[in-house]
Amino acid sequence: LRRVVIAVDGPAAAGKGTLAAALAASLGLPYLDTGLLYRAVARRMLDAGLDPADDATEAAAGLTADDLLRRDLRTPEVDRGASRVAAQPGVRAALLAFQRQFGHANGAVLDGRDIGTVIFPDAPVKLFVTASAWRRAERRWLQSGGAPDLDAGQRRQAIARIEAELAARDAADATRATAPLRPAADAILIDTDDLDADAVLARALALVRERL
Ligand code: C5P
Repeated sequence: LRRVVIAVDGPAAAGKGTLAAALAASLGLPYLDTGLLYRAVARRMLDAGLDPADDATEAAAGLTADDLLRRDLRTPEVDRGASRVAAQPGVRAALLAFQRQFGHANGAVLDGRDIGTVIFPDAPVKLFVTASAWRRAERRWLQSGGAPDLDAGQRRQAIARIEAELAARDAADATRATAPLRPAADAILIDTDDLDADAVLARALALVRERL
């Protein structure tokens, strides 16, 4: 499996990151969470007092490794900001070479939205990970601590709020003109609604072995 690139795309909170990291560890390949790149660009804009919807090309071109190691890259503000900077062709162009070099150096598993369609259209294995909006919201809620003292109705409300945020971000990602979120023609769909992380990894490893 030397220098093989595996593309893992899909909507927010579908389980791509969990799968991609586990796949990389199992196969001994480097792993890159490309969402972090867009999150770090959004963070730089916010820190500079700028609106992430404004031209973020310079912020993307000046990104450093330190920016990716920051701990405040997963706030709701950065979620929204990342989607705004990610819609800009200049930002995507500025981040393209880094992603390609990362993959070409030693092979890699990369997760994102456009890995199979734009960054590595020739990747021999492309997975598109999906789950229903409710399941994705529920998982995100559990990940964030899940407030165990809520009653069933409050729990539903909290999850519904997250579902609305995820839906807004997915809609923006899927309808933008540049590199919209969509499965590559040759991507294999994995629906994680009824599969736990181990089962998803087993499925993906079986597909990888079939294809390589
Ligand atoms: O995957 P994650 O939720 O961290 O990504 C944050 C945002 O970055 C996404 O909503 C999307 O707008 C953008 N993104 C992208 N292309 C990628 C990875 C992330 O447009 N390859």
